[in-house]
Amino acid sequence: MKMLQIPSPLHRLKLEQKGDDISTWVKRDDLIHQQISGNKWRKLVYPLKEITNDGSAGVITYGGAFSNHIVATAIACQALRIPCVGIIRGDESLSAANPSLSAAREGGMKLHFVDRDSYRHKQDAPAVQNIIDQYPGYAVIAEGGRHRLALRGVSEIISEVDTDLVRRPDYILVAVGTGTTFAGISQAYSGTLIGINVLKNKGVEQEIVALLEIDQLPVGHSIQHDFHFGGYAKYSAELITFMHDFYQGSGIKTDVVYTAKLFYAYQELRQSDFFQPGSSVVIYHSGGIQGNAGMNHRFPGLIRF
Ligand SMILES: Cc1ncc(COP(=O)(O)O)c(C=O)c1O
Repeated sequence: MKMLQIPSPLHRLKLEQKGDDISTWVKRDDLIHQQISGNKWRKLVYPLKEITNDGSAGVITYGGAFSNHIVATAIACQALRIPCVGIIRGDESLSAANPSLSAAREGGMKLHFVDRDSYRHKQDAPAVQNIIDQYPGYAVIAEGGRHRLALRGVSEIISEVDTDLVRRPDYILVAVGTGTTFAGISQAYSGTLIGINVLKNKGVEQEIVALLEIDQLPVGHSIQHDFHFGGYAKYSAELITFMHDFYQGSGIKTDVVYTAKLFYAYQELRQSDFFQPGSSVVIYHSGGIQGNAGMNHRFPGLIRF
């Protein structure tokens, strides 16, 4: 597919002070593409390849009203000429015109809205099944791009980092939602991997080990639960100030839901001497910037970049 910046660049974090004894790099998957950014492309690339090769009639997937995954799937399917359908959680009248769903619709995705209860029980909800029945031969990709082939695409992040650095980084930090991105990196990387959970979901470790078909997380791989700011898409004034200051200092945009919490966590961990002196850290920027337009739609003026 054209217009994708793959491999994505690895940038030294500009905020570092002279004499710092930890070197910090940012794997800029936010620069892969404006809408198919970050981990979305990594997760979709192999499932979509399979779908184009196996004769499926199209793609059906799920997401919330501001979902990065919905937008990315719509734009990727448009570029690959795959018909696609989004089953969206919630009331159409409240969200149909928001920036994320407008982008998905412009990309050619057909949107169907289901109530929250049907969405939660999507495996057997009649409202969801009725929609799927309208599209025979379509392959289903789960919410957030969770898919057995997603891990393969994500693990390529590590081969790219290996090409750019003389020595493998001692630490990698990654934002965690469903845990699929963490799982893909975990498979390919044996250093210290720290997932920053952006949800108040203590069970995500179990979901990751299930995805990897192992009994427990590998030694040195762990999830931090102290940086969710109250839960999914919750934030504080401090987090928003941090995002603006961080952008001013580094030139790197973050999103409220995932990557602001990731970089904030890095700052806090660093201040508490979490990292070994002399070590190197890669922070995985998983994109998601399109979601800020949705946040500003709900809370005008919240993010000023
Ligand atoms: C921008 C961004 N970063 C991180 C994540 C978390 O990824 P995962 O669900 O694979 O844990 C997501 C959601 O999928 C996302 O949209």
